[in-house]
Amino acid sequence: MAGLWTPICDRLGITYPIFGFAHDVSTVAAITNSGGFGVYGATRRFPDEIREELAEIRRLVGKRPFGVDLVLPPGMPEHNSREAIEAEIPEAHKAFVQQLIEKYQVPPASEPGMRTRFIRSAEIEAAQLRAVLESDVNMFACGIGAPPDAIAEAKALGKITLALIGSPHHVARSRAAGVDMLVAQGYDAGAHTGPIGTFSLVPQIVDEAGDMPVLVAGGVATGRHIAASLAMGAAGVWMGTAWLLSEEHQGHMHPVNTEKLKAAGSADTVITRSESGKTFRQVRTAWSQEWENDDAPEPLKMPYQDVLVGDLLGAIEEHDIEPLIHSGAGQSVAYFNEVRPVAGIMKTLVAEAETALARQQSYLR
Ligand SMILES: Cc1cc2nc3c(=O)[nH]c(=O)nc-3n(C[C@H](O)[C@H](O)[C@H](O)COP(=O)(O)O)c2cc1C
Repeated sequence: MAGLWTPICDRLGITYPIFGFAHDVSTVAAITNSGGFGVYGATRRFPDEIREELAEIRRLVGKRPFGVDLVLPPGMPEHNSREAIEAEIPEAHKAFVQQLIEKYQVPPASEPGMRTRFIRSAEIEAAQLRAVLESDVNMFACGIGAPPDAIAEAKALGKITLALIGSPHHVARSRAAGVDMLVAQGYDAGAHTGPIGTFSLVPQIVDEAGDMPVLVAGGVATGRHIAASLAMGAAGVWMGTAWLLSEEHQGHMHPVNTEKLKAAGSADTVITRSESGKTFRQVRTAWSQEWENDDAPEPLKMPYQDVLVGDLLGAIEEHDIEPLIHSGAGQSVAYFNEVRPVAGIMKTLVAEAETALARQQSYLR
């Protein structure tokens, strides 16, 4: 049987058109080393950490290609000032968070949480970008927003550029910014996501994109999803939830999250703004429920919500507050029920995709 392949494999030097997004070095390297394209989510890392971690991935993958993803939303404050943001947070919001701390008896965190180690600002974004551009990473992906200057500079340095988008209207803007490839990310996806379902979204984006390759994200969990993505005109897939239960990622997951993800079905995820201020899909827990209660305030905008809840989110994991421990995850979580090595996940995806594509061929006569 012929093997899974699309033209971007040759263009990018990968074996399979499967991109894998993860927030840790080992998983990213394992995705690339298994024939896919690993992408490191670096948006919550300090610029010096980004330099070191990209160098570490390079050491692990050798000449094989990998990428890095930054979230660069427009309209963030100019400087990294927690005090200035804290001063603007309404008392009612602070009181609600304090009441959560008391109800669940959460001790203080010993250090700032992932969302408060630094505050998103134009200043820190520029420094992160510098670390990426000065590295030898092969691809630069923009999670939210694709600043044209950054794209132009990355391209001039020989990096492939890519933007994640959730609406057909974003295609023109991405093209104007000069990106090489698009990720059409549908509603099913884990973490920050938009309102349009993957199946409704992808063909529209493919049509608008012309000769720009499109990857499908949001709900891709099996080789059948990969075959369906190619049938919709995409050049490959971009997966996030799939790797959360990889063996390589477990050092970065609270064990309670591992169990919650194993048990979760597609209806067990919710979209909430309580995590970051933007719509964010995660496994439903007491955390998301508390913010849905009638007495809960509307979450604040990014980065105010980050500052409001960031330390508490860190404390919840540090002190094992079981009911509130939660993870971003997409509806595809239903397909992942055990911890497996990345290479095994990849092997299954490829074998299933090849079977599904062969079956599609057999429907032609
Ligand atoms: C826990 C988690 C965190 C994520 N963080 C980011 C991020 O920082 N930047 C980004 O561009 N995408 C992020 N994503 C989205 C992924 O890049 C990807 O588009 C998405 O997971 C695809 O849908 P799936 O979850 O159904 O596989 C995240 C996804 C998950 C599950």
